Amino acid sequence: MPSGRPEISALDFLPRDHHLSSLRKAAKDCQGCDLYRNATQTVFGEGSPSPIVMFIGEQPGDQEDLAGHPFVGPAGRLLDACMEEAGIDRKAAYVTNAVKHFKWEPRGKRRIHKKPSMREIAACRPWLTAEIEAVKPRLIVCLGATAAQSLLGGAFRVTKDRGKVMDVAGYPPVVATVHPSSILRAQTEEDRERERRLFIADLVSVARHL
Ligand code: URA
Ligand code: SF4
Repeated sequence: MPSGRPEISALDFLPRDHHLSSLRKAAKDCQGCDLYRNATQTVFGEGSPSPIVMFIGEQPGDQEDLAGHPFVGPAGRLLDACMEEAGIDRKAAYVTNAVKHFKWEPRGKRRIHKKPSMREIAACRPWLTAEIEAVKPRLIVCLGATAAQSLLGGAFRVTKDRGKVMDVAGYPPVVATVHPSSILRAQTEEDRERERRLFIADLVSVARHL
């Protein structure tokens, strides 16, 4: 692939002015990669237009796809609860995803989440970059490997560097931690509780930085 522009990209769908409302409206019609085909709708970021902190997830899930809002399903409810425990006000935050359409495969009658590819993450990045530039958060929290990969590149390891505030050229300070879904997937109640505590501890260090 030649360097510079990826072969699939949201770039052609970005509006001329990058106000948040213009971005949100234009993103409804994005066909920058194939993921719009099987999804219900674009799920754009939401929250404070001048947030102290921006949370970036992976992609909308089944419930987000149907509702049209980010983090409103099980992972979102867990995120809300942990933010509250850590003393972060969701109303003062902006919440979005690295990829704006739900990628899934059928399993019987259910739609099972499928991980977006590097190409799809790269194709969707112009929306994420434009959101960051429009809302100018003071701090960015990447929830899980997909968000971290989108902003920090493939070399970054969440397990090794979780909770550390990092300076990344061209962005506000970035912290990465696990995705709340990984806590829900823990095998035992004990593991789940431990993972939940570690996640809250990362959010507490985020809150301290704000
Ligand atoms: N998981 C995500 O990464 N984002 C959502 O919006 C919901 C679940
Ligand atoms: Fe566009 Fe992103 Fe949806 Fe692909 S996933 S169609 S790049 S909004």
